[in-house]
Amino acid sequence: MYVLGIETSCDETGVAIYHSQKGLINHELYSQIEMHSEYGGVVPELASRDHIRKLVPLIKQTLSQSRLIPSDINAIAYTAGPGLMGALLVGAATAKSLAWTWQIPSIAVHHMEGHLLAPMLEDNAPEFPFIALLISGGHTLLVKVEGIGKYELLGQSLDDAAGEAFDKAAKMLELGYPGGPKLSALAHQGKALIKFPRPMTDRPGLDFSFSGLKTFTLNTLNASYKSADDKANIAASFQEAVADTLAIKCKRALQQTGLKKLVVAGGVSANQQIRTALTEMASKEKAEIYFPRPEFCTDNGAMIAYAGCQRLLNGLDEGLVIKARARWPMNELS
Ligand code: KG4
Ligand code: ZN
Repeated sequence: MYVLGIETSCDETGVAIYHSQKGLINHELYSQIEMHSEYGGVVPELASRDHIRKLVPLIKQTLSQSRLIPSDINAIAYTAGPGLMGALLVGAATAKSLAWTWQIPSIAVHHMEGHLLAPMLEDNAPEFPFIALLISGGHTLLVKVEGIGKYELLGQSLDDAAGEAFDKAAKMLELGYPGGPKLSALAHQGKALIKFPRPMTDRPGLDFSFSGLKTFTLNTLNASYKSADDKANIAASFQEAVADTLAIKCKRALQQTGLKKLVVAGGVSANQQIRTALTEMASKEKAEIYFPRPEFCTDNGAMIAYAGCQRLLNGLDEGLVIKARARWPMNELS
């Protein structure tokens, strides 16, 4: 079964084709970063318009590079939420129109389920059950995963998501958009000399809170920013605090559940220092750790095609109703 995957929840237009037996056939990505960088962040209306411009040509390109034609495609999976409503509607309406025209099923995919399953696209895919740490621009989730659609939320951010904290701290350091990779590059030049807090690690529980790190960044900047070196040291200290906090909470989740497998996914999982901190923690806990390749950490069509394919193999599809939800708690998935 060939599944066409469509991702348009934010600022990347992603298209991919996944085959239930042959695996990933091809994937293409068009990033809107350049367009939004002028404004210092994603402008939702511009994002929707650009998805309209880019999506159909990208589908045609993905098909032709895979040497496939529309009649080869057996189903279409699309991101139905959570995300920017207008951007989601472009993907959902395109997917539904094509599915109706080609007379094939379509399936709505939860964006975070896509991230969660992205490591399954790798050769050393984890087997269920495992703990998943999902760290993206909009969400920070710790989930116990028993199988496709069997997700138990163990913890989440009570305020800013990890990626959001990176983006906001980067803005304070005047690094521009997208903040995460830029802050990470600056951190590389600095030293973690400033002791940032490790929020919510001094009490039991698996929830996160990252908004205090943002305030701490601002106060530190105001109090001690004198040179470019200071800025790099603040970036390094901030990044170390996030990495440490994530590692402490993941260790707790592994110990609490007795599981020995940790999957880490979402845009922030592309961060090298975070990958290292989590890998070191997992090794001390004698647990296996799994990451998607960096290009599948951030938004892409491959994870949506894969998640949709798994849902269809489990007998799920849907009628003609166009599904798009800006907010969609993962525990409402079945
Ligand atoms: O998963 P994603 O591509 O989109 C959402 O679903 O939100 O994640 C985007 C987030 C942004 O906040 C971005 O700054 C962050 O991931 N990010 C990073 C890195 N690469 C992307 N954060 C820290 N270090 C990175 N290398
Ligand atoms: Zn994402």
